Order: sequence, then structure tokens, then C-alpha cells
Amino acid sequence: MKLSSRMVSTSRYPVMIGEEALEQLRKHLTRCRKLKSKLFILTDANTQRFCLPKLITRIPELEEVTMLSIDSGEEVKSLRTAEYLWKELGSQQADRSSLLINLGGGVVTDLGGFVASSFHRGIETVHIPTSLIGQIDAAIGGKTGVNMDVLKNQVGSFWAPKGVYVWPGFLETLPRDQVRSGLAEVAKTALIRDEQFWRWLSRKPVHKILEIPFSDHFWKELLLNTIRIKLEIVRHDPFERNQRKLLNFGHTIGHAIESLALRRETPVLHGDAVAAGMACESFLSVQRTGLDPLQLEAINGWIQQGFGKLPLLQEDESVRMDMMQHDKKNRQQEIRFTLLSRIGQGKINQVCSPDQIRDAFGKYYNL
Ligand code: GLY
Repeated sequence: MKLSSRMVSTSRYPVMIGEEALEQLRKHLTRCRKLKSKLFILTDANTQRFCLPKLITRIPELEEVTMLSIDSGEEVKSLRTAEYLWKELGSQQADRSSLLINLGGGVVTDLGGFVASSFHRGIETVHIPTSLIGQIDAAIGGKTGVNMDVLKNQVGSFWAPKGVYVWPGFLETLPRDQVRSGLAEVAKTALIRDEQFWRWLSRKPVHKILEIPFSDHFWKELLLNTIRIKLEIVRHDPFERNQRKLLNFGHTIGHAIESLALRRETPVLHGDAVAAGMACESFLSVQRTGLDPLQLEAINGWIQQGFGKLPLLQEDESVRMDMMQHDKKNRQQEIRFTLLSRIGQGKINQVCSPDQIRDAFGKYYNL
């Protein structure tokens, strides 16, 4: 299956999904080996151990590519690691015509994309996302970035990859919690844009979905639908001036929860923070954008069953509020949300008052 995304008017890149993705990747790399001065592949400790061998079995030519590796975890998504990689590229004779292949989850594709976008003012890059979040979100749409202190993606760029190759087989290498985390982003994508997809997804509780083997057609369908929706959105608004903000549903509150947890050195999974953010922002949606309370019940029932409830403390409310005010998506002191007017229809730029936000947190504590 091939989907194409028009990132900017002059560039178009393929997103290949399924078993055939690796065959297409092999062809792409064969072309690059002729055209490019040098190929690099970036992995983290996990993908070097669990994914690279699988990839090399299918594409043995990759053994000749120069390896770059970093530790795994959100903490390495920093300017410090970016500097380390720029220096490594420099010392290994990378030039403007080199290619950086990123094999990993969102941390690797965001960081690798950022490093590629800025090394020698930009070299070509290819993403091979290995986590569910990477496959359906982080690697799609050309956003790159690193965190600053605990604030996520504070420095970054838009840099379209030359191709994204999504092979569901990599999902087998993931701990179950990581797959669950990715399902929160899948649900978000359905909720903002496609009621039918939401109905299909939410027919099964999360723990049942996690029992389905990755070789089952279910996963291909899930990847295909989620990526299709994301590509439709970013094709129309690559630089997040407008409709791309739809993808922020659950993230205004979710990022504040995640950043605070990072600051306290008790990190939570991105998907768990987003699930809590979607639950709170669904309460806001009833108040602000007229979400039907029955739909609210359906959303929060599925979320709670699959993701549980995070132990959010009431005394942290003002810190969370402060973090939301400093979120790069906001202007002046206003806190803006993407909310739902109904399942399948997100609404961007919804300003909510501190009282409305506190009220939504109150409802979450009482779930
Ligand atoms: N992850 C949200 C976006 O790509 O815009």
C-alpha cells in the first residue's frame, strides 16, 4: 500500500505500509547507494538490539552502512544528543549529499529528523518507525524536534523525509505498554476526524486489541486508517497554521501532565498522558463545543477501561495550568484547545477559562 503526502508544493514522499514496505525500502536504499555520498543509520540501544538485526536479515546491504547509536528514552531527545550526532556525522565524513536513516520510535525519528534538517543546512533523511506512536504519528508529517529541560519539542523544524517505511513486524519488539500507549494516539486520530473508524476501533476494548497478533489484518487496517487521516490533515496544513492543530486533541493537558511527571522524575508514557488529556478535554468539549454527553460516556468509558486513571494531584493544578500557558501552541495568556463537537469532528482554537479547566480536572478526579 502506498500513500503519498504533499508536504510542500515541491516535495512528495512515499509512506509504505505493510509487509511490502521493506521491499520498497530496499529499492530506495539501492538507489541511494548509487546517488548518495554516504549512508548513515541511527538507532537507539533498543532498536539496535531488537530491530536492526531483523532489518539486516531482510536488507543485508545495510551492514555496510555507517551506524550511529544513542541511548534509549525520552531523556536523550536533547540538544546535547543532537550536538553529539552532528559531531559524529562530521567526524565520519558526512557531507551535504549524505543520507540519514532513522530506525526507531518517536525519539529517534524526531531527533534524527532534527539532526538531518540542520546538519550542513539539511541532508536527506528516511524514517523507519518501529513503535506504534512512531508509525502512526511521529514519523508522519515532517515535524522534528528536541526537548528543552522538561518542555517537549521546544526546538525543532519541519523537514520532510524522503520516505517513511512502516513495517508492522517491528511492533513485536515492543513491550505491551508501549503498544497500548500508541493506541491512545490512534483513538485521538479517529475521534477528531472519522466516526466510523472510532466505532470500528472502540468495538474492542484495549486489552483485547493487545491480544491480536501483529500479523493479523487488523493491525494493517489500523495503521492504514490512522496514517491516511494524518496524511490528509498534514497535506492541507503542513506547517500547523490551521487544521493540523486538530491533532492536538488531548495534548494540551496531556503534555502538561507528561512534562510535570518528567520534572518529578516519575515519567508517564506519552499515551497514558494523552489518554488522561483526552478524558479531561472531552469534559471540556461538553461545556465548550456541545459534545453529546452520551458520546462523552462512550469515549471516557473506552479510555478508562484501556488506560485506567492517572493519579493526578489536585495540588498540582496551578503548576499544570502554568505549563499549559507556556505551551508553544498558545498565544498570550490564553490556553487553547482542540475539542470535539462530536465524535469524528474536532474543533481547533477553543479558548477555555481557568475555571472551566479546573472543572474538567475535577470531573476527571471523580471518574
Ligand atoms: N503529532 C502531531 C503532529 O504531527 O502535528
